[in-house]
Amino acid sequence: MSFDRRIRIAPSILAADFADFGAECRAVEAEGADWVHVDVMDGHFVPNITFGPQMVKALRPHVKTVMDVHLMIAPVDAYLAAFAEAGADVITAHVEAGPHLDRTLQAIRDLGKKAGVALNPATPPEAIGWVLDRVDLVCVMTVNPGFGGQGFIGAMVPKVRRLREMIGDRPIHIEIDGGVTAETAPLVAAAGADVLVAGSAVFKGGSAASPAAYGANIRAIREAAEAARS
Ligand code: DX5
Ligand code: ZN
Repeated sequence: MSFDRRIRIAPSILAADFADFGAECRAVEAEGADWVHVDVMDGHFVPNITFGPQMVKALRPHVKTVMDVHLMIAPVDAYLAAFAEAGADVITAHVEAGPHLDRTLQAIRDLGKKAGVALNPATPPEAIGWVLDRVDLVCVMTVNPGFGGQGFIGAMVPKVRRLREMIGDRPIHIEIDGGVTAETAPLVAAAGADVLVAGSAVFKGGSAASPAAYGANIRAIREAAEAARS
């Protein structure tokens, strides 16, 4: 995984057909996805349950690009090795998921993976000020985690701008997760984001058997984001 700040679109398979994940991953990649975003939920840290490391392992052969695993689980440390072995490229843990964020981020890097840290909407950017040198990606939640299809929280845009300033020249991605559409993508791209997770806005109108809409949706988000930067 080389680093640059080009706009990357990461479809969240939370909005895919749960009976056909392998085909859905292949379809979004064929239609232009840069990464595939996998939302792991435990029914405890967030009020929803999705899937675990076995699912990540099963999907790995179907994802040629970057497998971006977003852990909405607490406690998280005990499961990091399982997700690393399952084939995740990026492992993101939440600031709010435990008292020892620095240890969690070190553990992810020690497993040879890129370390991500996610911030819930109420969490200030300064919460990660002292761990930035251990981080490869900051995920700004622009909805409260747990469900797809929620509305984008506009108050997060200045938070993105602040994080971009804090990051400076460090090779750290800023990822946006929640409510990303062709309408909201320009706001966060202009504020400094480069990885855009999108679930419903990518998967709407298509299917693995008929994926042209996925491609059109990905292009619309990418073009809107790129236009906001120039
Ligand atoms: C929310 C998840 C998101 C979600 C995004 O808890 O982390 O990745 O799937 O879905 P949309 O794009 O529909 O808001
Ligand atoms: Zn996510």
